[in-house]
Amino acid sequence: MIDHSTIERIFDAAQITEVVSEFVSLKRRGVNLLGLCPFHNEKTPSFTVSPAKGIFKCFGCGKGGNAVNFIMEHEHLSYPEALRWLAKKYHIEIEEREVTPEELAKQNERESILVVTQYAARQFTENLFHGHEGMAVGLSYFRERGFADAVLRKFEVGYCNERRDDFTKKALAAGYKSEFLVSSGLTIDKEGYMFDRFAGRIMFPIHSLSGQVLGFGGRIIKTDPKAAKYVNTPETEVYHKSRILYGIFQARQAIIKEDRCYLVEGYTDVLSMHESGVENVVASSGTALTQEQIRLIKRFTPNITMLYDGDSAGIKASLRGTDMVLEEGMNVRIVVLPDGEDPDSYSKKVSDEEYRRYLKDNETDFIRFKTRMLLDEAQSDPVMRASLVREVVRSIAVIPDQITRTVYVKECSTQLDMPEEVVLDEVMKLRRQESFRNRNAWPGQEASGSSMSDLTVTTAPSQRQKKKEETSYYSEREVIRMLIRYGSEVLTRHTDRETGTETITTVADYIISEINEDGLTFEDPLFAEMYDEITFSVSQGLIPGDRNFVHHANPAISAVTVDMLTEKDTLSQIWRKHGAYVETEDMKIREIVPDSVLKFKGDKIKMMQKEIRKAMAEATGDDDRISELQQQYKAMTLLQKKISAGLGGRLII
Ligand code: CTP
Ligand code: MN
Repeated sequence: MIDHSTIERIFDAAQITEVVSEFVSLKRRGVNLLGLCPFHNEKTPSFTVSPAKGIFKCFGCGKGGNAVNFIMEHEHLSYPEALRWLAKKYHIEIEEREVTPEELAKQNERESILVVTQYAARQFTENLFHGHEGMAVGLSYFRERGFADAVLRKFEVGYCNERRDDFTKKALAAGYKSEFLVSSGLTIDKEGYMFDRFAGRIMFPIHSLSGQVLGFGGRIIKTDPKAAKYVNTPETEVYHKSRILYGIFQARQAIIKEDRCYLVEGYTDVLSMHESGVENVVASSGTALTQEQIRLIKRFTPNITMLYDGDSAGIKASLRGTDMVLEEGMNVRIVVLPDGEDPDSYSKKVSDEEYRRYLKDNETDFIRFKTRMLLDEAQSDPVMRASLVREVVRSIAVIPDQITRTVYVKECSTQLDMPEEVVLDEVMKLRRQESFRNRNAWPGQEASGSSMSDLTVTTAPSQRQKKKEETSYYSEREVIRMLIRYGSEVLTRHTDRETGTETITTVADYIISEINEDGLTFEDPLFAEMYDEITFSVSQGLIPGDRNFVHHANPAISAVTVDMLTEKDTLSQIWRKHGAYVETEDMKIREIVPDSVLKFKGDKIKMMQKEIRKAMAEATGDDDRISELQQQYKAMTLLQKKISAGLGGRLII
């Protein structure tokens, strides 16, 4: 682990402008610098760097952070890797520090699992190619299906013997700890009886980008209607289903070379395509693509071609998931295989040459394809046509690049036989509604809209939306923002007439005493963590500034801080809405700081009242309890009124 003071030195050395300039050409624009965002396709620059704050923010795709975050994102590195990268650039020697026992345990667990999975993969290939049972059952199965040994070797395919604990026994005898056999998902511990998860299955190891075995998919060979066809490694410290793509290790070179990635459903599809000479292929393993998987592909190419089986039943369902790929700015194409064929079966039917030609000749642009398919379906039914237009418009609307959108609008209006302006209008309407762009403004820049939702940056708007209604998320956030932005500023000065001594109350002093006196707490775990750190520092006589949080070791904290620092002043926006114009927030801290605390308290009261209402509903029949609760409720209401008065009638409900 990197020593804390080394991390400090790295942050001090790594000037955001200098770091970003290695990859992005920046132009000065006022106090900030502007360039084309390296994280999404754009023609007009919305990628902003603030040298003063030490952060970057893209107002197109929403990415933002400090210098280390930039390197993490741009070079696809983990946090410590990015620190090392920067240390190297600035010739800073890394002081390693002792890892904490928990860190060590986690790291050990990860490493131990990888050792076990590597061992298991070797055992399974050994079984398949040299074991009696493996050869008789597994290898002959593959041969029957027409797979050559070369491709099986390339993917390290194997076989897990059928005896219930064959693998586990061998592994234990070889010195592997049962703890890690279980935590790697290979062994199941049922009240002390240890047996193999994958007994009697052919094994497909799932590799990381760098070729480490993270987990397995195991296919049953015998026809057993009770058993699942495939069993996969459960979530472990190294295997995260949503992040892996089967075949990425074997495909990455070809994906770069061909500047295209084929996407199929299954393990055997990937193998078969390799045999046909198409090596730029990965499988989502039967589930809808996740954003993490899409980004993994995007590291190598923006072009993705999805292969669909020749029965249209599945196509329509999966068309919806595709909008997410478009949203990432990827170019999506579709190939539909002949009736009844999947990538595996079709490759076995035709020559390699024919197969590859088929893929080339039958590639259709996704939106064109979707439009045509829905048109066929709708025929002349006007209601269906209307919903079809909406669907197509939706897909176009999520595309981040404006020029690409324009091209599609033109094309689809022809295809749909509708005036271009109408389609464009719909696209624009949807974009306004859904606000696909991350809605936040850099300080000193005008926000495009001014509704409440325009003022807060979030990665998952719908989730936040819910939070906003049901919890005190925003008021907690605002209090934290006040603390990190204005914590050390003087709120009040008080001179004692008799002694002449001056007492200074800082913003942090004030907020902390207000909150602690009432024994209030933060619900949101990130804010709770930040609040704890702030109160601890303050008790030590220090007031943490935003820098401590921008450069926080917890990336989630650093992200939320960057968001808070880059957004428009929320309260002044609210005030503006209420007619009282304010110039800058800084000039108003005497008002906005107490207001934020009152709003926070108001929200907490509302939540307590909600709890009381719930308790009342549960207490039906118990009259004493109910009247007690009613008293409590009334007291809360009174408090609420006082708070409203304190806010000068500006309490926002
Ligand atoms: N899958 C899974 N669990 C299942 C069924 C399927 O994880 N119970 C995943 C596997 O990754 C599988 C993919 O979905 O490869 C596609 O499923 P399917 O088409 O049924 O399997 P194939 O890969 O075509 O396998 P095979 O050709 O041997 O039937
Ligand atoms: Mn198949």
